[in-house]
Amino acid sequence: MALKFAFREPRPTAKRKEIPVLQLKIEVGKAGVIGLWMTGMSAAPVEIEHLTKVFKVPMRRERVVAVRDLSIKVEPGEVYGLLGPNGSGKSTTLKILLGLVSPTRGKTKVFGEDSAWVRSRKDVGFVPENPYFYKFLSGAETVRFFGKLSGMGGAVLEARVKELLELVGLTEAADRRVGAYSKGMLQRIGLAQALVQDPGLLVLDEPTAGVDPVGSREIRDLILELKARGKTILLCSHLLSQVQEICDRVGILARGQLVREGRVEDLLAVRDRTEVVLEQVSPEKLSALQEAAEKLGLKIVSSGRPQTTLENLFLEAIEPGQSADAGSGKN
Ligand SMILES: Nc1ncnc2c1ncn2[C@@H]1O[C@H](COP(=O)(O)OP(=O)(O)OP(=O)(O)O)[C@@H](O)[C@H]1O
Ligand SMILES: [Mg+2]
Repeated sequence: MALKFAFREPRPTAKRKEIPVLQLKIEVGKAGVIGLWMTGMSAAPVEIEHLTKVFKVPMRRERVVAVRDLSIKVEPGEVYGLLGPNGSGKSTTLKILLGLVSPTRGKTKVFGEDSAWVRSRKDVGFVPENPYFYKFLSGAETVRFFGKLSGMGGAVLEARVKELLELVGLTEAADRRVGAYSKGMLQRIGLAQALVQDPGLLVLDEPTAGVDPVGSREIRDLILELKARGKTILLCSHLLSQVQEICDRVGILARGQLVREGRVEDLLAVRDRTEVVLEQVSPEKLSALQEAAEKLGLKIVSSGRPQTTLENLFLEAIEPGQSADAGSGKN
C-alpha cells in the first residue's frame, strides 16, 4: 500500500501569478521504503503535452484521429479559448483533461497532477457541452446536490448555494424544477454547480451554446467577473466575437492539430496600420485631411462610416441604451 501526503501552497491568484507551488510528497511503499521529495516548482493550471487521441469506430475498421500531438499550457489567472470547426477535437481535449476519456498518447495535467488521478479534479469546475441534470430537482437542490458530492454541507453549503444562485441570476427560479428551465437557465445552473467548491480552474465547453444574445452577454460578464476573482478559465466556443472580448489567449484547432496560438491582440493586430475614428467629418474636411496626409507622406487606406455589430443592434433594439459596448468589461 502506498501512502501519499501532498502539502501544497495556496493557489496562485491573478495578482500572484508566478508564486511557485511546492509539493512535498512522502511515499510509503510496500516494502516500507519512505521516499521524500519536492515537486512542481510552478504548476500551471492546465498542461497538455503531445496529446493524441485515436478513436476506434466500432463494427468498422476505421480510426478517427480526434487530437493530434497537441501541446497547450494555460497560466494562472488566464482565460484561454480553444477554437475550431465542428469535429476538430475541442471537446475530446477537454474530456481527456478532466479524466473522462483516456489519451492514446501524451499527457494532460491539472495543477501539476496527471488527469488520470482523481485528485487532479479536486480544484476544477466543469460545464460540459450538453450538461445533464436531474429534471425533478429544483435549481437550489441541484447546486446543493453537487456541493454534497464535493464534500460540502451544513450552513457553509447553504450560504454557498444562495450566493451562487444570485451570482448566476437564478435566485427567483431557485425553487423551480430544472426540467422546466430554458437553455440559458440550464447553462447558468451548469456554471453554478461548476463553481460550488470554489475551484481555481473552470473548464467550459461552449458556455453560451443556444443562449440568446442577452443571456450570452451575461455569461460573458460572469466569466470576466470570475477572471477578476483570480480564476483560470479554459473554454471552447464558436462565438468568435465573444472569445475575442474575453480571452487573453486563443488556440485554433483544425483536424485535431493546433494551427495557430497566441495572445488575442497580437493575433488580430494588423501591422503598419493605425485606425483613427473622427466625429462630424464633412466631405470638405475629409478631402483637406487627405491632402494633409499626402503632404506627410501618409496614405489613407479607407474611410467611411464605422459599422456596429449585429449583436449591438439586437441588444439596442430590445433594451435601448444597453448595447453590448456599454456592458463590455474589456477595451
Ligand atoms: N466517443 C467517440 N467515439 C468515436 N469518435 C469520437 C468520439 N468522440 C469524438 N469522436 C470524434 O472525434 C472528433 C472530434 O470530436 P469532438 O467532439 O472533440 O469535436 P469538437 O471540436 O468538440 O466539435 P464541436 O464543435 O462540434 O463540438 C470527431 O470526428 C468525432 O466524431
Ligand atoms: Mg464539442
